[in-house]
Amino acid sequence: MSDVNLTGIAKSYGGSPVLTDISVSFPSGSFTSLLGPSGSGKTTLLRIIAGFITPEAGAVTIGAEDVTRVPVWARNIGMVFQSYALFPHMTVRDNVAFGLGRRGVKGAEAKRRVDEALEMVRLPGFADRLPKQLSGGQQQRVAMARAIVTEPKVLLLDEPLSALDRRLRQEMQVELLSLQREIGVTTIFVTHDQEEALTLSDQVAILDRGRIVQMGAPAAIYERPATRFAAEFLGDANFFTGRVESGAVAVAGSRITAPDLPEGREVTLAVRPEKISLGAGENGGNRVQARVLNAIYAGANLTYLMEGPGGMGLKVFAQNADGVILPKGAEVTLHWSPDHTILVED
Ligand SMILES: Nc1ncnc2c1ncn2[C@@H]1O[C@H](COP(=O)(O)OP(=O)(O)OP(=O)(O)O)[C@@H](O)[C@H]1O
Ligand SMILES: [Mg+2]
Repeated sequence: MSDVNLTGIAKSYGGSPVLTDISVSFPSGSFTSLLGPSGSGKTTLLRIIAGFITPEAGAVTIGAEDVTRVPVWARNIGMVFQSYALFPHMTVRDNVAFGLGRRGVKGAEAKRRVDEALEMVRLPGFADRLPKQLSGGQQQRVAMARAIVTEPKVLLLDEPLSALDRRLRQEMQVELLSLQREIGVTTIFVTHDQEEALTLSDQVAILDRGRIVQMGAPAAIYERPATRFAAEFLGDANFFTGRVESGAVAVAGSRITAPDLPEGREVTLAVRPEKISLGAGENGGNRVQARVLNAIYAGANLTYLMEGPGGMGLKVFAQNADGVILPKGAEVTLHWSPDHTILVED
């Protein structure tokens, strides 16, 4: 187990920056998700940590060691690539043993460690198959076994579950987390899937155009997004913009307030759709009039798309507790707490 630290990492391709001033710590044994849109630099960042790419500026340390100039093979990192990248002509055993051979571990010792790794990913008895004789989920496990067999200090996973169907994906999430806890390896996990990031991680880092815009515990980031981008990328949000006057923002006749609003400034306020309730609520809460445009039924819950003050679009999540679905055109009052109204950077 080792912590990983990045300081001032920068990387560009053909003059355009891909990563800018990335400084971040991954504590020893922790599970961190890197979340960001396509092209935001997630794979590039993992490859810099692994040593496939040398940054133009900044340093990578693993434990006490500065590894910025240390080659890939000497870093002791396990990596599962975005496309599992199994060798198609090699058996499962040879695929998993690959990194051991390169470290001089051979014969009976290699066999024992491969068997142990296959046991850990629950694939004993698959050693002699070829990758094409495996399902997607099984191939994913082989890639995982190959990454952990060398007992790496750091495990880098680049969207390892994205090819799997929903059910298998959820199963693998649980397995991945218990495996990670069992071997205690510092893990950095790239995903597009916000729910996956929230459920698996000790911390989540949000990447936008090559910068980490926010990092923290899942609940901290979800409940207190720092920017409009973070609020929209991790979860859904409604936004109200305007100038703060007498402690509130006026939106077409409604006054939206939040703690500690900076008087006189133009601000953007975010509200999660599940924080908004139907009805007038208590005095002192935020309250707007809205009209139902559409109700999207999803079994356990409903999403209402509404037209709010000044014609603005609003999204509201409701539990399907009593089976009542508001019809299109229904006029409703909505309320939510000022404490759930978040001042975000636009
Ligand atoms: N070898 C390269 N040469 C030139 N540009 C590159 C190279 N590798 C990556 N890029 C560019 O760098 C940016 C970041 O790429 P990267 O692969 O890190 O994104 P990503 O966040 O992993 O995206 P995705 O979610 O699609 O996998 C992209 O704009 C990409 O086109
Ligand atoms: Mg990628």
